[in-house]
Amino acid sequence: MSARYAHRAVVFTRNGEPASVLSTLTYPALPPPPPHSLNLKFRLSPINPSDINVVEGVYPSKPEPTKSLSAGQQLTESVCVPGNEGLAEVTDVGEGVTDIQKGDWVVMAKPQAGTWSSARTLGSHEVIKLDKGNISEVNAATIAVNPPTAYLMLRDYVNLNSGDWVIQNGANSAVGQAIIQIAAQQGVKTINFVRDRPDIDALKQQLTQLGATHVFTYNELSDKSFYKSVKELTGNNPPRLLLNCVSGPTTAQLTRLLGTDARLVSYGAMSKQPLAIPTGPLIFRGLKAEGFWITGRWSKDSEKEEKQKVLNAIVQMELKEPEHEIVTLEGSLTDEQAGARVREVARKIGEGKYGKKVLLRIEDPVTNG
Ligand SMILES: NC(=O)c1ccc[n+]([C@@H]2O[C@H](COP(=O)([O-])OP(=O)(O)OC[C@H]3O[C@@H](n4cnc5c(N)ncnc54)[C@H](OP(=O)(O)O)[C@@H]3O)[C@@H](O)[C@H]2O)c1
Repeated sequence: MSARYAHRAVVFTRNGEPASVLSTLTYPALPPPPPHSLNLKFRLSPINPSDINVVEGVYPSKPEPTKSLSAGQQLTESVCVPGNEGLAEVTDVGEGVTDIQKGDWVVMAKPQAGTWSSARTLGSHEVIKLDKGNISEVNAATIAVNPPTAYLMLRDYVNLNSGDWVIQNGANSAVGQAIIQIAAQQGVKTINFVRDRPDIDALKQQLTQLGATHVFTYNELSDKSFYKSVKELTGNNPPRLLLNCVSGPTTAQLTRLLGTDARLVSYGAMSKQPLAIPTGPLIFRGLKAEGFWITGRWSKDSEKEEKQKVLNAIVQMELKEPEHEIVTLEGSLTDEQAGARVREVARKIGEGKYGKKVLLRIEDPVTNG
């Protein structure tokens, strides 16, 4: 094993299609962490849609470019390490850190911490400790973004009581599945919309097993009698919260199912289409539309305590692991081989070929890559 090149990261030097611009880079062993810092070994790091947008250069939060991933390395060109979310194990603790120990599991409080790497040094205030006895590796690696997004959108916009209704689109997304489960645990009923597909019954069954009350496809919205039948389902307690992952014309159609004084909360635009909200509900039924961004909500250090509280609450909920596939970049690969593997994964994600969350497991290199 090379002593010099001890760790590996996925990097990019310019924005563009992830399937073209991503590569991997090996870097020297991390020195002991400075005071109030930690050395971390990443165990699993998801590839979320926003990570793809970061590499493309169309996301507002960006990783810091750097010419050195470890002491002793000086690159000729700055690189960015993508990865906003991930589970890391603490391998070394700097002076003055009292609340975190070697072996603890942590997730990121700092946005764009560069989790698509095998090891990094971060400040102890930039991570949140998890109780590793109570959560699986996959749930821990995916707990910091999607479940809190679901939890806070259900908590902070409409005062929901048991028996109330919520509508969402993109219901089979990782966020959507968390919304279904959290709502169900609170006795809140969900009307869920997904795209049609050949095995739609299997998807409807899967979401129902998670706790979805009803699952429909967007195609059903074109049937005029559909609105009447959904209104019959909710009776005199029409939904007052619509959670939007998709945007585009079908989202505008969903506003017809809302009661008065409802909120349309947008957190994604997976259709890449704009959202045109009908004016009538805004004027006559008190509809309010706004956006939610977890990174904006939680980017300040002062909010770490609130984040810890929310993550603890989510751990207690024992959510089902998102459907996932783990892609390992084995230590035996050269940087050329590992880079080709990452670009291939990015290409498949771009073509929508996974249909499940992809998580990277990046091993330390065992050759002089
Ligand atoms: N604002 C925030 O704070 C925040 C936080 C977390 C996530 N997000 C955003 O939420 C979205 C979902 O994230 P995730 O990690 O849950 O994603 P995910 O698990 O990868 O799921 C993606 C979802 O998007 C749907 N989709 C893809 N292309 C579509 C299209 N053209 N039209 C309609 N639906 C389409 C997929 O449906 P199919 O199965 O039919 O392909 C799937 O339901 C992303 O936009 C992400 O950036 C925002």
